[in-house]
Amino acid sequence: MARIVGGIFTSHVPLIGKALANPKLQQEPYWKPFFDGYRGAHEWLDRVKPDAVVMFYNDHGLNFFLDKLPTFAIGAADEYRNADEGWGLTPFPPTPGDPRLSRHLIESLVNEEFDLTTCQEMLVDHAFVIPLHLLWPGVGGRAVKTVPICINTVQHPLPTPRRCYRLGQAVGRAVASYDEDVKVLVIGSGGLSHQLDGERAGFINKQFDLECMDKLVNDPEALTRYSNIELVELAGTQGVELLMWIAARGALGDGAQEVHRNYHIPISNTAAGLMVLEPRAAGMQAAA
Ligand code: DHB
Ligand code: FE
Repeated sequence: MARIVGGIFTSHVPLIGKALANPKLQQEPYWKPFFDGYRGAHEWLDRVKPDAVVMFYNDHGLNFFLDKLPTFAIGAADEYRNADEGWGLTPFPPTPGDPRLSRHLIESLVNEEFDLTTCQEMLVDHAFVIPLHLLWPGVGGRAVKTVPICINTVQHPLPTPRRCYRLGQAVGRAVASYDEDVKVLVIGSGGLSHQLDGERAGFINKQFDLECMDKLVNDPEALTRYSNIELVELAGTQGVELLMWIAARGALGDGAQEVHRNYHIPISNTAAGLMVLEPRAAGMQAAA
């Protein structure tokens, strides 16, 4: 049977794409502490070797726009093509999908009354590809099969943190009932605090971010008690991308243990966070 072997929570900033394309940049003082922070994740991935990724991410106007904007959408494609949504990035090569796992998740989630929009084709933006290329440098999503789950952070009303957490919990149950013997990594792509426009452009809230990172490990329910308006106040308009972290954390189950973290301010306008968590059961297996 399938099992969730861990969760990785990471920011996604288009500018990272420029540094990924130019390894020299990664050695510069601006970037080095950020890229060095991923080493702990690489070591963990080398050890655990997941076969498939389920990624909670938010589309920024590439695949969905204001005319049609599902609250939750899931990919069911053989592969996902990347395109530039306006940052001038060279597109990354296509990422392999996992249509059989997608179909199982869709069946299970809809039966649990999460009515996601199923996408037989889905263009994926920087929020999907940049985490994959940070985690598997030079290889990206070709290292694994992937299922993208997209959460609306573009047009209010957004789904509540509690709803996203419950969606993640349902994904955790769906993976546990999948009949293939695959190791699944969940990724939450987004955050931490950032605001790109308006009077508070450049807003970062380090204290709140660090509290979130702590709560993500030991008290994720506390994060579900915020409203989205409170998250905007505390983390900035784009800081609501924390919803992706909350959803991914839901998939790990009640107990989790921290393997690695990094926090670096700023990358572009963003407080860049990285966490690697294992479900408590996985940690016990490793120790046994
Ligand atoms: C930035 C951050 C984001 O999350 C994003 O989607 C686009 C830009 C930034 O800080 O530049
Ligand atoms: Fe974003």
